[in-house]
Amino acid sequence: MQYGHFDDKNREYVITDWETPLPWINYLGSDDFFTLLSNTAGGYAFYKDARLRRITRYRYNNLPLDQDGFHIYIKDNKTVWNPGCRPCGTKLDSYECRHGMGYSVITGSRNRIEVSQEFYVPKNDNILLMRVTVKNKDKKDRNIDLFSFVEFCLWDAQDDTTNFQRNYSTGEVEVEGSVIYHKTEYRERRNHYAAFFANRKVDSFDTSRDAFMGVYGTPASPLAVSNGKCSDSIAHGWQPVGAHHIHLDLKAGETYDVIFGLAYVEVPERKKFIAPSVINKEPARKLIQKYDTNEKFDAGFKKLHSFWDRLLSRFEVSTSNDKVNRMVNIWNAYQCMVTFNMSRSASYYESGIGRGMGFRDSCQDLLGFVHMIPERARQRILDIAATQKEDGGAYHQYQPLTKKGNSDIGGGFNDDPLWLIACTDAYIRETGDWDILKEKVDFDNKPELADTLLEHLRRSFNYTLNNLGPHKLPLIGRADWNDCMNLNCFSKHPGESFQITGPSEGPVAESVFIAGMFVKYGKAYAQLLRHLEKNDEAKKADKAVKEMEKAVLKDGWDGSWFLRAYDAFGKKVGSHYNTEGQIFIEPQGMCVMAGIGTETGEAQKALDSVQERLETKYGIVLLNPAYTTYKLNLGEISSYPPGYKENAGIFCHNNPWIIFAETVMGHGDRAFELYKKTCPTFLEEISEIHRTEPYVYCQMVAGKDAPTFGEGKNSWLTGTAAWTFTVLTQGILGIQPDYNGLRIDPCIPKKVKEYTVNRLFRGTMYHIVIRNPHKAEKGVKELIVDGQHVDGNVIPLVSKKNVNVEVIM
Ligand code: GLC
Ligand code: GLC
Repeated sequence: MQYGHFDDKNREYVITDWETPLPWINYLGSDDFFTLLSNTAGGYAFYKDARLRRITRYRYNNLPLDQDGFHIYIKDNKTVWNPGCRPCGTKLDSYECRHGMGYSVITGSRNRIEVSQEFYVPKNDNILLMRVTVKNKDKKDRNIDLFSFVEFCLWDAQDDTTNFQRNYSTGEVEVEGSVIYHKTEYRERRNHYAAFFANRKVDSFDTSRDAFMGVYGTPASPLAVSNGKCSDSIAHGWQPVGAHHIHLDLKAGETYDVIFGLAYVEVPERKKFIAPSVINKEPARKLIQKYDTNEKFDAGFKKLHSFWDRLLSRFEVSTSNDKVNRMVNIWNAYQCMVTFNMSRSASYYESGIGRGMGFRDSCQDLLGFVHMIPERARQRILDIAATQKEDGGAYHQYQPLTKKGNSDIGGGFNDDPLWLIACTDAYIRETGDWDILKEKVDFDNKPELADTLLEHLRRSFNYTLNNLGPHKLPLIGRADWNDCMNLNCFSKHPGESFQITGPSEGPVAESVFIAGMFVKYGKAYAQLLRHLEKNDEAKKADKAVKEMEKAVLKDGWDGSWFLRAYDAFGKKVGSHYNTEGQIFIEPQGMCVMAGIGTETGEAQKALDSVQERLETKYGIVLLNPAYTTYKLNLGEISSYPPGYKENAGIFCHNNPWIIFAETVMGHGDRAFELYKKTCPTFLEEISEIHRTEPYVYCQMVAGKDAPTFGEGKNSWLTGTAAWTFTVLTQGILGIQPDYNGLRIDPCIPKKVKEYTVNRLFRGTMYHIVIRNPHKAEKGVKELIVDGQHVDGNVIPLVSKKNVNVEVIM
């Protein structure tokens, strides 16, 4: 069942039934000011950090669901309704929500009154804009009361939901004309406030929640709205809110609009006040003036559109399959930008107060956006590298505000360092910016320890070699990519962290997955060295990689698939000897991507085993059979009920590794078949089962052992975005940035006859047409660049604006 449809021309998803299986959200903002916005105008806003600068309140886990947000109330005689249908739930004659690139438009109508809310956050300004348009489509004049409403958060979202004894006394506001200023704690150590404005004269306002809602009132029927007017309340403590009321006498056919805006404003310390306790409103006025007319609102909107046009035009594909086109050209790229901006901080599943930036997460996110904003990718690499420890290990997370490693969680997740090689390599292939390797970067954020980025990569590489276990396979430490594979922790007490409890970094437990990673990214590292003419060092790296390959084939091979690990007692995990957890997805994907066993048959056997034992109609489960009881020697992975999360859920993040592996083996049909299984645009028709947004990936889909098989959870903030974008554009469509040019190496279904790609690469726009007259799955027969035949499959670099490329498979 569908709840809407794609509008590719406008790059929108159009929701036509507001009762989606879960709130379907969008992200507004791409610089510092962000808003999460659902299809019924639920959501919240924050500046930079969703915990420390939360601007509006949001109650997760609440009932009714998703009721905090940016709602507009329409009072039409005795009936009260919202264009987004909630919180009132009043039945409307029409409803539509269009989620687009950095904006959303919600339109509802009832009894010949149509109201729309157009939301966006303009480029480079800290403000959420919302234009409300009311159309009287009636043949007679109508009287309407219009109300806006937001509830302010007292800045620190964590403190806001716990420290009531203090917070009920601190709330403060000021009101001037149509602008409501939220200034809690400004009197002391804060130099920022929020301003909620309307560009029209209002008839009344409220800033006290009790006054607007009624002490026992509900968002579904606020007291002020029932009364038809606000009471001009001024909040003293309790819950400061912002509500405007405008009475409208609309002639038949008349249209009225008003622009609301929610701004975040910082004021220099010495200019905070203009009189005792009176805040300096000048910076707010300046910002408001930038958007207080329709012309200005439209101009900002246009700028936002051109920003996205530019970003998305860097990679455009045209195939005969719309579902593929809209993933590459619109939604998957969009999700990559969102994961880059948000990391894992704020979604409808990540509360914004939990984790910082993950070392491995951010390195992988980069793979999906490096072609869009290489400059920001560069900065991100340097920021991440600066948190690396002296011995090459990594802090598992760092804080975006301070950019410092988080010592509560610490390090010892032994896959982390290798991801730094992965993202740096991707960045250099994209940009050719070899100089980044010469940048001096701190270790452990200590300038006195700074060394070149190349030295950081060297230590990443050596970190694995310095931490080998009894089978010469890498020690796993607290966990590898699978955060829940906790072989050294033995956590017994509820509430303890699974990862950092107990011995944590034992000398025995080994990971075959990290071994695969070491081979894959060790090869990339050796290539970088060779390019820098450090040939001896490159040879040494090659040798270490070869030895690791041998160790994998000797002690990391189980007969029909790659083993997952050895536990702290040296016992096998992910082996046919086990009764549960016999086979895992991660080492099959990573080892084959690394090229292990591709010539000697193990790779193919491993992929056959994946198909036989892990594949389901909704994708590949993480392991099989699922663990049915908690196992001290395995940790969090066995804590989940069978079929959920890492315990045999379909983890969308590593499905693309298997797809990539299939392309390594040249299986285009198979790769695409697997691609479709987790791809949201292919799941649109089963939205009632899948439940999450059909335009973005979620982290996890319940596996076959779960009673809710096929149900998605944790949408938006997942490494899946970057990996699926990469596997589709590079693995399947075969457009691969390489050091000396674009490599063209498609691996496609036999029946694909032709497709075209426009790819901006190092300043040149390549117009590529790929033809497949012989029904091949892989292999380029001929490459013609601007009419000239070129040997091999790499388009040499040129200094031209446009290049035409023809590829025959
Ligand atoms: C989550 C984490 C990621 C981890 C994955 C598997 O998505 O953010 O770091 O690799 O789970 O446990
Ligand atoms: C939990 C989750 C896992 C995530 C981790 C992040 O272990 O199950 O998916 O990676 O938390 O800390």
